[in-house]
Amino acid sequence: MSGKIRLSKSSLSNAEKEAVLAVLDKEFLGMGEEVMAFEQEIQNYLQTTMDIVCVNTGTSALHLALNALDIGEGDEVIVPSLTYVASFAAISATGATAVACEVNPKTLFIDAKDVASKITPNTKAIMPVHYASNSQGIEEIYTLAKQYNLRVIEDAAQAFGSKRGEKLVGQEGDIICFSFDGIKNITSGEGGAILSHDKVFIQRVQDGRLLGVHKDTQKRYSGQRSWDFNVEHQGFRYHMSNIMAAIGREQLKRIDSFRQKRQHIAKTYIASLSSVAQITFLEFDFEMVLPHIFVIKAEKRDELREYLLANDIECGIHYKPNHLLTLYKTSYDLPLTQEIYEQILTLPCHNDLTQKQQLRVIEVIKEFYGK
Ligand SMILES: Cc1ncc(COP(=O)(O)O)c(C=O)c1O
Repeated sequence: MSGKIRLSKSSLSNAEKEAVLAVLDKEFLGMGEEVMAFEQEIQNYLQTTMDIVCVNTGTSALHLALNALDIGEGDEVIVPSLTYVASFAAISATGATAVACEVNPKTLFIDAKDVASKITPNTKAIMPVHYASNSQGIEEIYTLAKQYNLRVIEDAAQAFGSKRGEKLVGQEGDIICFSFDGIKNITSGEGGAILSHDKVFIQRVQDGRLLGVHKDTQKRYSGQRSWDFNVEHQGFRYHMSNIMAAIGREQLKRIDSFRQKRQHIAKTYIASLSSVAQITFLEFDFEMVLPHIFVIKAEKRDELREYLLANDIECGIHYKPNHLLTLYKTSYDLPLTQEIYEQILTLPCHNDLTQKQQLRVIEVIKEFYGK
Protein backbone atom coordinates (compact mmCIF):
# COMPACT_ATOMS: atom_id res chain seq x y z
CA MET A 1 0.00 0.00 0.00
CA SER A 2 1.47 3.35 -0.97
CA GLY A 3 1.28 6.66 0.90
CA LYS A 4 1.41 7.39 4.57
CA ILE A 5 -1.78 6.98 6.60
CA ARG A 6 -2.12 10.21 8.51
CA LEU A 7 -2.96 10.48 12.19
CA SER A 8 -5.08 13.60 11.71
CA LYS A 9 -5.65 16.34 9.14
CA SER A 10 -7.94 19.21 8.17
CA SER A 11 -10.83 18.36 5.85
CA LEU A 12 -11.68 21.24 3.54
CA SER A 13 -14.25 21.47 0.75
CA ASN A 14 -14.67 24.08 -1.98
CA ALA A 15 -17.17 25.88 0.23
CA GLU A 16 -14.46 26.90 2.72
CA LYS A 17 -12.19 28.09 -0.12
CA GLU A 18 -14.98 30.13 -1.71
CA ALA A 19 -15.93 31.64 1.65
CA VAL A 20 -12.34 32.84 2.16
CA LEU A 21 -12.25 34.33 -1.34
CA ALA A 22 -15.52 36.16 -0.64
CA VAL A 23 -13.95 37.76 2.46
CA LEU A 24 -10.85 38.72 0.46
CA ASP A 25 -13.10 40.32 -2.17
CA LYS A 26 -14.80 42.44 0.50
CA GLU A 27 -11.38 43.67 1.66
CA PHE A 28 -12.36 43.62 5.35
CA LEU A 29 -10.12 40.93 6.79
CA GLY A 30 -10.11 41.74 10.50
CA MET A 31 -12.85 41.22 13.07
CA GLY A 32 -16.28 42.18 11.76
CA GLU A 33 -19.52 40.74 10.46
CA GLU A 34 -18.19 37.24 9.71
CA VAL A 35 -17.06 36.79 13.32
CA MET A 36 -20.37 38.12 14.63
CA ALA A 37 -22.26 35.68 12.35
CA PHE A 38 -20.04 32.75 13.40
CA GLU A 39 -20.73 33.49 17.07
CA GLN A 40 -24.47 33.60 16.37
CA GLU A 41 -24.35 30.34 14.43
CA ILE A 42 -22.41 28.56 17.18
CA GLN A 43 -25.04 29.75 19.65
CA ASN A 44 -27.84 28.41 17.43
CA TYR A 45 -26.06 25.10 16.89
CA LEU A 46 -25.45 24.57 20.61
CA GLN A 47 -28.98 25.78 21.44
CA THR A 48 -27.53 27.75 24.30
CA THR A 49 -28.40 31.05 25.93
CA MET A 50 -24.73 31.51 26.85
CA ASP A 51 -22.77 34.33 25.21
CA ILE A 52 -19.98 33.35 22.82
CA VAL A 53 -16.72 35.14 22.15
CA CYS A 54 -14.51 33.91 19.31
CA VAL A 55 -10.74 34.28 19.57
CA ASN A 56 -7.65 33.32 17.60
CA THR A 57 -6.70 30.03 19.35
CA GLY A 58 -7.95 27.63 22.00
CA THR A 59 -4.93 28.53 24.11
CA SER A 60 -5.83 32.22 24.07
CA ALA A 61 -9.44 31.27 24.96
CA LEU A 62 -8.15 29.59 28.14
CA HIS A 63 -5.70 32.40 28.92
CA LEU A 64 -8.31 35.10 28.40
CA ALA A 65 -10.84 33.24 30.57
CA LEU A 66 -8.36 32.95 33.45
CA ASN A 67 -7.31 36.56 33.01
CA ALA A 68 -10.92 37.78 33.05
CA LEU A 69 -11.38 36.03 36.42
CA ASP A 70 -8.36 37.99 37.74
CA ILE A 71 -6.52 34.73 38.39
CA GLY A 72 -2.80 35.42 38.78
CA GLU A 73 0.22 35.21 41.01
CA GLY A 74 -0.37 33.28 44.24
CA ASP A 75 -3.47 31.55 42.84
CA GLU A 76 -3.79 27.86 42.00
CA VAL A 77 -5.75 26.15 39.24
CA ILE A 78 -6.21 22.37 39.39
CA VAL A 79 -5.79 20.65 36.03
CA PRO A 80 -5.07 17.06 34.92
CA SER A 81 -1.42 16.44 34.12
CA LEU A 82 -2.51 14.37 31.10
CA THR A 83 -3.40 17.21 28.74
CA TYR A 84 -1.87 19.24 25.96
CA VAL A 85 0.71 21.69 27.29
CA ALA A 86 -1.66 24.49 26.16
CA SER A 87 -3.80 24.02 29.30
CA PHE A 88 -0.71 24.48 31.51
CA ALA A 89 0.71 27.33 29.42
CA ALA A 90 -2.55 29.28 29.71
CA ILE A 91 -2.43 28.99 33.51
CA SER A 92 1.26 29.80 33.88
CA ALA A 93 0.88 32.80 31.54
CA THR A 94 -1.28 34.47 34.22
CA GLY A 95 1.38 33.92 36.90
CA ALA A 96 -0.84 31.36 38.66
CA THR A 97 0.29 27.81 39.49
CA ALA A 98 -1.07 24.86 37.54
CA VAL A 99 -1.65 22.12 40.13
CA ALA A 100 -1.29 18.83 38.27
CA CYS A 101 -3.69 16.06 39.21
CA GLU A 102 -4.64 12.49 38.27
CA VAL A 103 -7.21 11.18 35.81
CA ASN A 104 -9.68 8.30 35.96
CA PRO A 105 -7.81 5.38 34.33
CA LYS A 106 -10.94 4.18 32.49
CA THR A 107 -11.82 7.46 30.81
CA LEU A 108 -8.70 9.64 31.31
CA PHE A 109 -11.02 12.38 32.56
CA ILE A 110 -9.95 14.43 35.60
CA ASP A 111 -10.25 12.48 38.88
CA ALA A 112 -12.59 14.30 41.25
CA LYS A 113 -11.18 12.62 44.38
CA ASP A 114 -7.67 13.76 43.52
CA VAL A 115 -8.97 17.25 42.76
CA ALA A 116 -10.61 17.38 46.21
CA SER A 117 -7.33 16.38 47.86
CA LYS A 118 -5.49 19.21 46.09
CA ILE A 119 -7.82 22.09 46.99
CA THR A 120 -6.13 24.72 49.19
CA PRO A 121 -7.09 28.25 50.28
CA ASN A 122 -5.23 29.46 47.14
CA THR A 123 -7.31 27.39 44.71
CA LYS A 124 -9.38 29.65 42.46
CA ALA A 125 -10.54 27.34 39.69
CA ILE A 126 -10.66 23.80 38.34
CA MET A 127 -9.88 23.15 34.68
CA PRO A 128 -11.32 19.77 33.62
CA VAL A 129 -10.05 18.71 30.20
CA HIS A 130 -12.44 16.92 27.82
CA TYR A 131 -9.83 14.32 26.95
CA ALA A 132 -10.44 12.79 23.52
CA SER A 133 -13.75 14.73 23.50
CA ASN A 134 -15.31 12.95 26.51
CA SER A 135 -16.52 14.81 29.62
CA GLN A 136 -18.55 12.16 31.42
CA GLY A 137 -18.08 12.71 35.15
CA ILE A 138 -17.96 16.52 35.05
CA GLU A 139 -20.97 16.72 37.38
CA GLU A 140 -18.68 15.73 40.28
CA ILE A 141 -16.36 18.62 39.41
CA TYR A 142 -19.26 21.08 39.43
CA THR A 143 -20.36 19.70 42.83
CA LEU A 144 -16.86 20.26 44.24
CA ALA A 145 -16.70 23.73 42.73
CA LYS A 146 -19.97 24.68 44.37
CA GLN A 147 -18.85 23.28 47.71
CA TYR A 148 -15.56 25.25 47.67
CA ASN A 149 -16.79 28.31 45.77
CA LEU A 150 -14.48 27.74 42.78
CA ARG A 151 -14.87 28.60 39.11
CA VAL A 152 -14.86 25.85 36.48
CA ILE A 153 -13.12 26.51 33.19
CA GLU A 154 -13.89 23.57 30.91
CA ASP A 155 -11.02 22.92 28.52
CA ALA A 156 -13.34 21.62 25.82
CA ALA A 157 -10.75 22.24 23.09
CA GLN A 158 -11.33 18.73 21.72
CA ALA A 159 -15.06 18.47 22.40
CA PHE A 160 -16.92 20.68 19.93
CA GLY A 161 -19.97 18.71 18.76
CA SER A 162 -19.67 16.12 21.55
CA LYS A 163 -22.66 15.39 23.73
CA ARG A 164 -23.02 14.66 27.42
CA GLY A 165 -26.39 13.04 28.02
CA GLU A 166 -28.85 14.77 25.72
CA LYS A 167 -26.94 18.04 25.66
CA LEU A 168 -24.12 19.29 23.50
CA VAL A 169 -20.96 20.32 25.36
CA GLY A 170 -21.17 24.10 25.67
CA GLN A 171 -24.92 24.23 26.08
CA GLU A 172 -24.56 24.81 29.82
CA GLY A 173 -21.84 25.17 32.46
CA ASP A 174 -19.72 27.91 34.02
CA ILE A 175 -17.02 28.72 31.42
CA ILE A 176 -16.39 26.59 28.33
CA CYS A 177 -13.41 27.00 25.98
CA PHE A 178 -13.25 25.42 22.52
CA SER A 179 -10.43 25.16 19.98
CA PHE A 180 -10.92 25.34 16.22
CA ASP A 181 -7.32 24.65 15.23
CA GLY A 182 -6.57 22.89 11.96
CA ILE A 183 -7.27 19.33 13.10
CA LYS A 184 -10.09 19.84 15.61
CA ASN A 185 -13.70 18.66 15.17
CA ILE A 186 -14.33 21.83 13.20
CA THR A 187 -11.63 24.28 12.19
CA SER A 188 -11.41 27.98 11.44
CA GLY A 189 -7.76 27.58 10.42
CA GLU A 190 -6.73 28.43 13.93
CA GLY A 191 -9.32 29.65 16.39
CA GLY A 192 -11.17 29.26 19.62
CA ALA A 193 -14.25 30.33 21.56
CA ILE A 194 -15.25 31.14 25.12
CA LEU A 195 -18.80 30.66 26.39
CA SER A 196 -20.47 31.72 29.62
CA HIS A 197 -23.72 32.98 31.13
CA ASP A 198 -21.71 35.39 33.30
CA LYS A 199 -22.27 38.79 31.64
CA VAL A 200 -19.56 40.62 33.62
CA PHE A 201 -17.04 37.92 32.69
CA ILE A 202 -18.11 38.00 29.03
CA GLN A 203 -17.62 41.78 28.83
CA ARG A 204 -14.08 41.34 30.24
CA VAL A 205 -13.39 38.61 27.67
CA GLN A 206 -14.81 40.66 24.79
CA ASP A 207 -12.66 43.63 25.79
CA GLY A 208 -9.69 41.40 26.58
CA ARG A 209 -9.49 39.99 23.05
CA LEU A 210 -9.15 43.57 21.71
CA LEU A 211 -6.34 44.89 23.91
CA GLY A 212 -8.76 45.71 26.72
CA VAL A 213 -10.46 48.49 24.75
CA HIS A 214 -13.80 48.94 26.52
CA LYS A 215 -16.78 47.84 24.38
CA ASP A 216 -14.69 47.71 21.18
CA THR A 217 -16.55 44.51 20.19
CA GLN A 218 -19.90 46.32 20.20
CA LYS A 219 -18.38 49.17 18.13
CA ARG A 220 -16.88 46.83 15.53
CA TYR A 221 -20.08 44.81 15.23
CA SER A 222 -21.98 47.97 14.36
CA GLY A 223 -19.39 48.90 11.74
CA GLN A 224 -17.66 51.60 13.79
CA ARG A 225 -14.23 52.11 15.30
CA SER A 226 -13.26 53.21 18.78
CA TRP A 227 -11.32 56.51 18.68
CA ASP A 228 -12.04 57.86 22.13
CA PHE A 229 -11.83 54.88 24.46
CA ASN A 230 -10.74 53.65 27.85
CA VAL A 231 -8.81 50.59 29.04
CA GLU A 232 -9.27 49.32 32.59
CA HIS A 233 -7.74 45.84 32.39
CA GLN A 234 -4.80 44.18 30.68
CA GLY A 235 -5.86 43.06 27.22
CA PHE A 236 -4.41 40.99 24.40
CA ARG A 237 -4.52 40.84 20.61
CA TYR A 238 -6.58 37.63 20.61
CA HIS A 239 -9.58 38.39 18.39
CA MET A 240 -10.71 36.15 15.53
CA SER A 241 -10.50 37.49 11.97
CA ASN A 242 -13.22 37.48 9.30
CA ILE A 243 -11.07 35.08 7.23
CA MET A 244 -10.99 32.55 10.07
CA ALA A 245 -14.70 32.92 10.83
CA ALA A 246 -15.58 32.35 7.16
CA ILE A 247 -13.83 28.95 7.28
CA GLY A 248 -15.45 28.11 10.62
CA ARG A 249 -18.95 28.97 9.36
CA GLU A 250 -18.62 26.52 6.47
CA GLN A 251 -17.16 23.83 8.71
CA LEU A 252 -20.06 24.19 11.13
CA LYS A 253 -22.47 23.32 8.30
CA ARG A 254 -20.62 20.01 7.87
CA ILE A 255 -20.57 18.94 11.53
CA ASP A 256 -23.23 16.24 11.20
CA SER A 257 -21.25 14.43 8.51
CA PHE A 258 -18.06 14.85 10.57
CA ARG A 259 -19.88 13.32 13.54
CA GLN A 260 -21.04 10.31 11.52
CA LYS A 261 -17.62 9.73 10.07
CA ARG A 262 -15.59 10.03 13.28
CA GLN A 263 -18.03 7.98 15.35
CA HIS A 264 -18.02 5.31 12.65
CA ILE A 265 -14.21 5.18 12.75
CA ALA A 266 -14.26 4.74 16.55
CA LYS A 267 -16.91 2.02 16.43
CA THR A 268 -15.04 0.17 13.67
CA TYR A 269 -11.79 0.16 15.68
CA ILE A 270 -13.64 -1.25 18.69
CA ALA A 271 -15.54 -3.90 16.72
CA SER A 272 -12.43 -5.04 14.85
CA LEU A 273 -9.89 -4.95 17.67
CA SER A 274 -11.91 -6.13 20.67
CA SER A 275 -10.63 -9.66 20.06
CA VAL A 276 -7.06 -8.44 20.68
CA ALA A 277 -6.49 -9.04 24.39
CA GLN A 278 -3.45 -6.74 24.51
CA ILE A 279 -5.61 -3.70 23.68
CA THR A 280 -7.99 -1.87 26.01
CA PHE A 281 -10.42 0.87 24.96
CA LEU A 282 -11.44 3.90 26.93
CA GLU A 283 -14.94 3.61 28.36
CA PHE A 284 -16.66 6.09 26.06
CA ASP A 285 -20.16 6.09 24.62
CA PHE A 286 -19.56 6.77 20.93
CA GLU A 287 -23.21 7.71 20.41
CA MET A 288 -22.34 10.78 22.53
CA VAL A 289 -18.65 11.44 22.01
CA LEU A 290 -17.54 13.02 18.72
CA PRO A 291 -13.92 11.85 18.87
CA HIS A 292 -11.21 14.35 17.98
CA ILE A 293 -8.65 11.59 18.66
CA PHE A 294 -9.01 7.83 19.09
CA VAL A 295 -6.87 6.56 21.97
CA ILE A 296 -6.21 2.96 23.01
CA LYS A 297 -4.15 1.42 25.80
CA ALA A 298 -1.76 -1.11 24.34
CA GLU A 299 0.67 -3.67 25.72
CA LYS A 300 4.18 -3.25 24.29
CA ARG A 301 3.05 0.23 23.22
CA ASP A 302 6.46 1.43 22.02
CA GLU A 303 7.08 -1.65 19.88
CA LEU A 304 3.58 -1.41 18.39
CA ARG A 305 4.20 2.25 17.63
CA GLU A 306 7.47 1.44 15.85
CA TYR A 307 5.72 -1.31 13.89
CA LEU A 308 2.92 1.02 12.76
CA LEU A 309 5.41 3.72 11.76
CA ALA A 310 7.47 1.16 9.83
CA ASN A 311 4.25 0.35 7.95
CA ASP A 312 3.68 4.01 7.05
CA ILE A 313 0.96 4.49 9.63
CA GLU A 314 1.22 7.61 11.75
CA CYS A 315 0.25 7.34 15.41
CA GLY A 316 0.58 9.59 18.43
CA ILE A 317 0.90 9.80 22.19
CA HIS A 318 -1.57 12.19 23.77
CA TYR A 319 0.20 13.32 25.96
CA LYS A 320 3.48 13.44 27.77
CA PRO A 321 2.20 14.38 31.27
CA ASN A 322 2.92 18.01 32.05
CA HIS A 323 4.23 17.34 35.56
CA LEU A 324 7.21 15.63 33.91
CA LEU A 325 8.17 18.81 32.00
CA THR A 326 10.87 21.04 33.49
CA LEU A 327 8.63 24.10 33.81
CA TYR A 328 5.77 22.23 35.48
CA LYS A 329 7.67 19.66 37.55
CA THR A 330 5.85 18.67 40.74
CA SER A 331 7.26 17.78 44.14
CA TYR A 332 4.87 14.81 44.21
CA ASP A 333 4.30 11.80 41.93
CA LEU A 334 1.20 11.02 39.92
CA PRO A 335 1.59 7.24 39.65
CA LEU A 336 -1.64 6.56 37.74
CA THR A 337 -0.87 9.19 35.12
CA GLN A 338 2.69 7.89 34.76
CA GLU A 339 1.41 4.34 34.25
CA ILE A 340 -1.19 5.48 31.70
CA TYR A 341 1.46 7.45 29.81
CA GLU A 342 3.37 4.20 29.14
CA GLN A 343 0.27 2.58 27.60
CA ILE A 344 -1.58 5.13 25.49
CA LEU A 345 -1.45 5.25 21.73
CA THR A 346 -3.51 7.37 19.35
CA LEU A 347 -4.63 5.78 16.08
CA PRO A 348 -5.50 7.60 12.83
CA CYS A 349 -8.91 9.30 13.06
CA HIS A 350 -9.99 12.09 10.71
CA ASN A 351 -12.74 12.91 8.26
CA ASP A 352 -10.81 11.83 5.17
CA LEU A 353 -9.60 8.47 6.51
CA THR A 354 -10.81 5.91 3.97
CA GLN A 355 -12.26 2.54 4.89
CA LYS A 356 -9.33 0.89 3.13
CA GLN A 357 -6.84 2.89 5.19
CA GLN A 358 -8.59 2.05 8.46
CA LEU A 359 -8.69 -1.65 7.58
CA ARG A 360 -4.96 -1.46 6.92
CA VAL A 361 -4.36 0.05 10.39
CA ILE A 362 -6.40 -2.75 11.96
CA GLU A 363 -4.61 -5.41 9.91
CA VAL A 364 -1.16 -4.16 10.93
CA ILE A 365 -2.11 -4.05 14.62
CA LYS A 366 -3.42 -7.63 14.46
CA GLU A 367 -0.31 -8.71 12.60
CA PHE A 368 1.85 -7.18 15.34
CA TYR A 369 0.08 -9.15 18.07
CA GLY A 370 0.08 -12.32 15.95
CA LYS A 371 -3.74 -12.45 15.55
C1 LIG B 1 -6.77 19.80 25.53
C2 LIG B 1 -6.36 20.99 24.72
N1 LIG B 1 -6.33 22.21 25.31
C3 LIG B 1 -5.98 23.32 24.63
C4 LIG B 1 -5.65 23.25 23.29
C5 LIG B 1 -5.20 24.51 22.62
O1 LIG B 1 -5.93 24.84 21.47
P1 LIG B 1 -5.20 25.64 20.28
O2 LIG B 1 -4.32 24.68 19.56
O3 LIG B 1 -6.36 26.09 19.44
O4 LIG B 1 -4.47 26.77 20.89
C6 LIG B 1 -5.67 22.03 22.63
C7 LIG B 1 -5.33 21.95 21.21
O5 LIG B 1 -4.55 21.21 20.73
C8 LIG B 1 -6.02 20.86 23.36
O6 LIG B 1 -6.03 19.66 22.78
